[in-house]
Amino acid sequence: MDTRINRQWLLARRPRGMVSADDFQWIEVPTPELSDGQALLRNLYLSCDPAQRAWMARDSYVPAVKLGEVMRSGGIGEVVKSRHHEFEPGQLVWGVLGWQDFAIISPGPSSMISPLLPGVPVEANLSVLGLNGLTAYFGLLEIGRPQPGETVVISAAAGATGSAAGQIALIKGCRVVGIAGGPDKCQYVSELGFHAVIDYKAEDVDARLREMCPKGIDIYFDNVGGHLLDAALSLLAMRGRVILCGAIAQYNDETPPPGPSRYFNLALQRGRMEGFIVLDYYNRAAEAIPDLYRWLTEGKLKYRTDVVHGLENAPTALARLFKGENQGKQVVKVADPSQG
Ligand SMILES: NC(=O)c1ccc[n+]([C@@H]2O[C@H](COP(=O)([O-])OP(=O)(O)OC[C@H]3O[C@@H](n4cnc5c(N)ncnc54)[C@H](OP(=O)(O)O)[C@@H]3O)[C@@H](O)[C@H]2O)c1
Repeated sequence: MDTRINRQWLLARRPRGMVSADDFQWIEVPTPELSDGQALLRNLYLSCDPAQRAWMARDSYVPAVKLGEVMRSGGIGEVVKSRHHEFEPGQLVWGVLGWQDFAIISPGPSSMISPLLPGVPVEANLSVLGLNGLTAYFGLLEIGRPQPGETVVISAAAGATGSAAGQIALIKGCRVVGIAGGPDKCQYVSELGFHAVIDYKAEDVDARLREMCPKGIDIYFDNVGGHLLDAALSLLAMRGRVILCGAIAQYNDETPPPGPSRYFNLALQRGRMEGFIVLDYYNRAAEAIPDLYRWLTEGKLKYRTDVVHGLENAPTALARLFKGENQGKQVVKVADPSQG
């Protein structure tokens, strides 16, 4: 394996509107030499996450990617060289690796480098057993605190996070309604066992939610924001909870959209709306992983992975999230593991 040349995507400009390849610059540079305590990874899979759009644009819960820096991304890599006592060639790990062929890591307490879970497909570590699974788990269970029989509504329900959150709500004995875009995604959500699904691109969401949630919405797991959030707020049940996980409908907006117009229903219904960031729970992953792993192996927690091949296609793959083109967890496959 030739490790001399490292192909990289650098952030070239702050995005305006939809992310595009023009926001990045492609370069090919020599792979740096390792120092003591470091390991060289060959990137196999890169994770596409809506949050990357925010990292490109501004400081938020993490500093913005600097112009001229390798685009930040989670990923799975294989150790090809190591000068770190805990790593040896052939090991697969998850980490923040960036849009490039090779990443140098300096494992330590704050590096977020973690070994892959054995006995499951490699890509599961990027989705249902990775940050999306943890997001769904802690968002739903810690913020939403679902009770059996409650009605839970999930937006972007066919996606990596939404599909996991919905299935966990099913496992907890809730009645689960998904919202997704288009017949194929709605079909998938039905196959996952959701009690009902609403195609927000083809149906009147307010009317369908009233029909599907006759006792109101106890928990709304919001991945989208915008008018879907308003629709859910207007049907909040007494002591309802709104979990602010994401607002992908507005990540590409240049100016802040109007706030939710039906927010006062939170007061009338003595409700609660609470946001969270999964990184706050990263050090509690060991609480969630055994449950997620068990549900996965028992067939109660299904997932699908949408693979775009080639590092050169990373910008296109990221944009698919905002166009709703991804069917499940969007990843970029950069290389095969050396062991097959
Ligand atoms: N709080 C946290 O720590 C945390 C962590 C991870 C993810 N998140 C959030 O969770 C959400 C889902 O992320 P994911 O990684 O699992 O992605 P995903 O759901 O697998 O993919 C994104 C999906 O969002 C939907 N979407 C895009 N634009 C939309 C629009 N204008 N209106 C309605 N739906 C739209 C599309 O589905 P349709 O085709 O169905 O429209 C698209 O497939 C995002 O908002 C993300 O920021 C938050």
